[in-house]
Amino acid sequence: MPETPLSEMIRLDGQAAIVTGGAKGIGRGIAARLVEAGAHVVIADVDEQAGTATACELGAASFQRADLASARDIEALIEDTVGRLGRVDILVNNAGIYPFSPALEMAIDDWDRVHAINLRGLFLASRAFARAAIARGSGGVIVNIGSIDSLHPSGVGLVAYDASKGGVLMFTRSFALEMAPHGIRVNMIAPGGITTEGVTTAQGGVPTDLITQFLARVPMGRWGEPDDIATMALVLSTPLSGYVTGAVVVVDGGRLLT
Ligand SMILES: NC(=O)c1ccc[n+]([C@@H]2O[C@H](COP(=O)([O-])OP(=O)(O)OC[C@H]3O[C@@H](n4cnc5c(N)ncnc54)[C@H](O)[C@@H]3O)[C@@H](O)[C@H]2O)c1
Repeated sequence: MPETPLSEMIRLDGQAAIVTGGAKGIGRGIAARLVEAGAHVVIADVDEQAGTATACELGAASFQRADLASARDIEALIEDTVGRLGRVDILVNNAGIYPFSPALEMAIDDWDRVHAINLRGLFLASRAFARAAIARGSGGVIVNIGSIDSLHPSGVGLVAYDASKGGVLMFTRSFALEMAPHGIRVNMIAPGGITTEGVTTAQGGVPTDLITQFLARVPMGRWGEPDDIATMALVLSTPLSGYVTGAVVVVDGGRLLT
């Protein structure tokens, strides 16, 4: 019989987690599951109103305003978390933007902004987290939210996004290699289409024809919910995945099979 009961392996009691972009959408779903498992979650987001409301609803959570495009905000996020909670065990790099623009029409600033948040911010947060975890000697867990677009483009108009998410995939593998001796596991989830505010509302959302075409190619016949990603993030944050690092877990209802 295994030494640790299953009910203990899924608990995160006493641990501190940061979820970037945790105010809404997938990040909010992940924050909710981590809180349910016993962690205190810092919701790091640019949306103060939604972030504060989410932290309040979840209970064992707090909000810190942090723009992932700002190196200073990211440093402050890790420092303040360790200062306030005395530790940081889990980092979920979820914040990301996906504005639609064909490459031929894209402004350089738009390309830079996507990369600043989706890839450079993820790198800076991972590095600051790892430095803190190594200083404490406690190991840790990083869960990166990539995309099925890390592996295959979903449609025209996402060239900057796809390049950034392809970068997240290789960053995950490379950083996992570097961090393994420090007891820090680094994995990536590749979500398929998930119903979130970003898909349905922000900046005009995803074009309607793309949503229809996308669903037609999902073998499981439905869009995903934030909790479909959150439960996988929980597995990757707990000892249930204790020997898993540098892995990519596709959670897409079979979309990449078609
Ligand atoms: N929804 C999908 O279908 C889907 C599919 C694949 C991957 N993803 C990825 O999942 C992640 C979350 O997507 P979502 O659909 O939940 O998005 P969303 O737009 O619904 O929510 C994103 C959250 O991130 C925050 N955010 C945006 N820019 C930020 C910044 N600069 N700094 C800090 N926070 C910021 C927003 O305020 C918001 O709370 C993204 O990385 C996205 O690329 C989403």
